[in-house]
Amino acid sequence: MGNQQSWNQEYKRSQLVTQSHKPQKDFLRFIKWIKNNKHIDLYSGVTVLDLGCGVGRNSYYMADHYDASVYGWDFSEDAVEKAQKFHGHELISYQVRNIGEPFPLEDNSIDMILDVTSSNALNEKQRDLYIRECARVLKPGGYMYVRTLAKEGDKNAQKMVMEFPGGEYNTYKHPQLGVIERIFSGPDFKKLYNQHLEVVRMERKTGYQTFGKQAYKRNYWNVYIKSKNA
Ligand SMILES: C[S@@+](CC[C@H](N)C(=O)[O-])C[C@H]1O[C@@H](n2cnc3c(N)ncnc32)[C@H](O)[C@@H]1O
Repeated sequence: MGNQQSWNQEYKRSQLVTQSHKPQKDFLRFIKWIKNNKHIDLYSGVTVLDLGCGVGRNSYYMADHYDASVYGWDFSEDAVEKAQKFHGHELISYQVRNIGEPFPLEDNSIDMILDVTSSNALNEKQRDLYIRECARVLKPGGYMYVRTLAKEGDKNAQKMVMEFPGGEYNTYKHPQLGVIERIFSGPDFKKLYNQHLEVVRMERKTGYQTFGKQAYKRNYWNVYIKSKNA
């Protein structure tokens, strides 16, 4: 079963993925940082691209709080259906789309890109394209937030890489979810993204990934990135 089918199945039975209406907490910290440092005037009618939007909780927050125009993309039809049902908004365009394929967007057209724990499921070829596409569509002065799986200090992740190898560097096939995911060391992440964008802040935080009734301790990178043309 491929990643797309596994995610669709997950949205049907929802053992891991959130169906929450609340925006992700670390993403809110990024928004606070943007505001405090006046990096972007969020009240100026910004355009946001939410990659792997899931049920749309973060897309909705941006449209509802800041009147942002949002593209919410997810390759799971079930996720997009739920997003439209529970977090529909006139300023949001939810679409079933693979973020590892070319983005049908103009150059320099997006003020903010969100990737809240989504792109870690891309393969290397798709990831290379996704980073190039993010750099292409992000406006000069635009910012990107990535929350992704960390390698350092995460014994569960390191064990899964050993026991359930995903075929590419630092990947595993999640034993319950069935999705192949990449984990990143800090230097690996920076090297990759800095080719086309500029990583300006990177923080590692511990969180819990719940699957069914069990909670697994996981480490996540919260990465703040800006356009190289800023
Ligand atoms: C952990 S969930 C996070 C959802 C959302 N960002 C949130 O914070 O609630 C990861 C999401 O990424 C989506 N996803 C994974 N790989 C994708 C791809 N190649 N293209 C589009 N969506 C993808 C999954 O379907 C899933 O909805």
